[in-house]
Amino acid sequence: SANVSPTGSQPTSTYDSAFLKACRREPVPHTPVWFMRQAGRSLPEYRKVREGIGMLDSCMRPDLVTEITLQPVRRHQVDAAIYFSDIVVPLKAIGIDLDIKPGVGPVVEQPVRTRADLDRLRDLAPEDVPYVTEAIGMLTRELGSTPLIGFAGAPFTLASYLVEGGPSRTYENAKAMMYGDPELWADLLDRLAEITSAFLKVQIEAGASAVQLFDSWAGALAPADYRHSVLPASAKVFDAVASYGVPRIHFGVGTGELLGLMGEAGADVVGVDWRVPMDEAARRVGPGKALQGNLDPTVLFAGREAVETKAREVLDSAAGLEGHVFNLGHGVMPATDPDALTRLVEYVHTATAR
Ligand code: CP3
Repeated sequence: SANVSPTGSQPTSTYDSAFLKACRREPVPHTPVWFMRQAGRSLPEYRKVREGIGMLDSCMRPDLVTEITLQPVRRHQVDAAIYFSDIVVPLKAIGIDLDIKPGVGPVVEQPVRTRADLDRLRDLAPEDVPYVTEAIGMLTRELGSTPLIGFAGAPFTLASYLVEGGPSRTYENAKAMMYGDPELWADLLDRLAEITSAFLKVQIEAGASAVQLFDSWAGALAPADYRHSVLPASAKVFDAVASYGVPRIHFGVGTGELLGLMGEAGADVVGVDWRVPMDEAARRVGPGKALQGNLDPTVLFAGREAVETKAREVLDSAAGLEGHVFNLGHGVMPATDPDALTRLVEYVHTATAR
């Protein structure tokens, strides 16, 4: 199977891919690269197959999920695929009334604000997401030795959408619960940790070779609040999937002050946004973990020479690391020229070939 150490020598197996080797901090033939949000609106072939189909509906169609997940692998030759879905899919699957509004993001019909609201968050069973198991089965057959990354939203980032009712800049309702009713907050995050753990397990059991926990908005928190009110729930997720032995990646935006704690939560690989250089991030995370990052996604609008200069800076800053997975510091922006991404993959591969 793709996720266990091969007994013989199988140089073309998923286990021996550059991406999984880098996650395990083993020597690599070249620095592996993939992009958060590599599948999606930057690709004309994505816009074409999504025409007239809602975002959440598309996530529930294995044929479409498979096609969309493969598109950036074919086009850019990235070293890993990321399962096409969204962080709110498991919440939708347990019956939470929510939608993804184009240009806005997830919107929740009835925000979660009280203990009675918490009861609406029931456990997630594999039967709630049959399309995930089916799509990942199709994908692992199509991908050959290219690893598939499964993912989920971290408890804090999911809670931010559930409590606010939609995207927010300040998270005032979520933080009001965190500071004002810490018991309710802890119970909410614990429920979300269970749902997230179940969702990641479905993906790993179906064949995902690594998982990434997106705590995209954790950077809104001071370290002491993160440690006390968020880290235990994220740690519970990482613990729940530890026994599978697949690399666990932990990513957030604006998390420079939290990098050490995000490693402590139990990740094998810590994602870094563009605000902290990779060598400094490595000092903050400490030994024993690989790092992923961290080219500013807006650099891709600056032309080939600037992209290569800035990519070189990332590679130089990461040169002393034991494990480096090249990525952007956040997701691909929709207006990005896909050819700039293809050239960037080629540049990283060529510049790091050993
Ligand atoms: O290629 C990939 O990375 C896999 C696909 C993926 C999507 N969402 C598809 C998507 C992933 C990994 C996500 C995760 C996600 N969703 C996060 C964490 C990553 C991050 O960016 O920090 C968050 C915070 C969400 C919530 C969410 N869903 C937002 C903020 C948006 C954007 C709203 C908009 O329209 O600008 C979405 C919608 C969404 N998820 C789209 C895609 C491709 C765009 C909708 C569309 O294509 O119609």
